[in-house]
Amino acid sequence: MKNILVTGANGFIGSSLVNELNNSEYNVTALVRKSSNTELLSTQSKIRYIDYRDQKELQKIFEDHHILVHCAALTRAKKWKDFLEINVELTQKMVELCNRTDAMQHFIFISSQAAAGPASSLSDPKREADEEKPLTYYGKSKFLAEKYIKKFSRKNWTILRPVSVYGPGDQDFLQLFKMIKKGFSAQIGFQKKYFQTIYISDLIELIIRTFGNERCYQKTFFLANEPFINEEDFSQIIAKEMDKKIVNIRLPISLISLIAQFLDLLHIFSKRPAVLNRQKVKEFAQRYWLVDTSKTKRILDFSHKSEVSQNIKKTIADYKKRGWL
Ligand SMILES: NC(=O)c1ccc[n+]([C@@H]2O[C@H](COP(=O)([O-])OP(=O)(O)OC[C@H]3O[C@@H](n4cnc5c(N)ncnc54)[C@H](OP(=O)(O)O)[C@@H]3O)[C@@H](O)[C@H]2O)c1
Repeated sequence: MKNILVTGANGFIGSSLVNELNNSEYNVTALVRKSSNTELLSTQSKIRYIDYRDQKELQKIFEDHHILVHCAALTRAKKWKDFLEINVELTQKMVELCNRTDAMQHFIFISSQAAAGPASSLSDPKREADEEKPLTYYGKSKFLAEKYIKKFSRKNWTILRPVSVYGPGDQDFLQLFKMIKKGFSAQIGFQKKYFQTIYISDLIELIIRTFGNERCYQKTFFLANEPFINEEDFSQIIAKEMDKKIVNIRLPISLISLIAQFLDLLHIFSKRPAVLNRQKVKEFAQRYWLVDTSKTKRILDFSHKSEVSQNIKKTIADYKKRGWL
């Protein structure tokens, strides 16, 4: 039986992966910090609390595992330094620990579409072989982490770049669901914007398909459902499932940038970044967050067609059950 180690195991993606693996042929250990909120992890999970600065303890844990899924990351932060420390330097540490551990056979890095940057048009989605042009600190940190793995990992590695993930347990899209519940949906800019999503169960299935899969070694994959969607249509699907009529409000990018600058100033002394900040505006302002999934379809044998309305229905039910919506 293969032993799997998951970092960032209490987060949205990490916990969904651990909960799924708990009911599988794999033996999974959830690595979390002492301060972590573990409410998303099912009670049967094998949790190991860790201080990521404790190299000795980490090494001991690594020695009992064959596959590492490195999920831990900062998806929002105020400073480049924070992204560098967690997304780049912690990944470097994970690579080095894997290199030193005989038992470890496969290093799986949960990167992001942000490492590659947006596509230039609707007809030219980003491919894995394209030059990376990350836009934000977050994207740059993921790109640098990828570069390090490719250069220094002496194990089999796989880099997975999911697009925006939604589903039960996610708190990012939750904000949109809340807005829709109030009867409106706000879009930035006056031009239509296209993006892709991936439903959490599809993402988890794809991650698991890479485990010890030789066809995935030393390769990078974009992970996304099809088809592309524009933000207005996505909001309408959510509204329909919530039985709500919504008003679409379009706000000029210049106004949103001003608000973000103001919010950044307000948060200057707080530890957490503002929900809307200048980095986020950069992301929101792009028209084509699109990726080509043909390589993933071919190698991971995945159809990518997901029933969006069914997935949204399950997400709403989960949010209500948790009292989030
Ligand atoms: N969600 C998406 O749409 C999406 C899309 C593409 C890629 N990804 C990638 O998928 C991975 C998981 O994302 P997620 O959505 O599950 O995020 P999440 O819910 O915010 O979880 C992040 C995890 O990283 C851990 N972490 C944060 N700072 C840390 C630190 N300083 N040291 C150690 N661990 C730390 C968190 O632990 P604490 O709770 O203790 O802070 C948590 O377990 C990330 O690598 C992210 O970049 C996510």
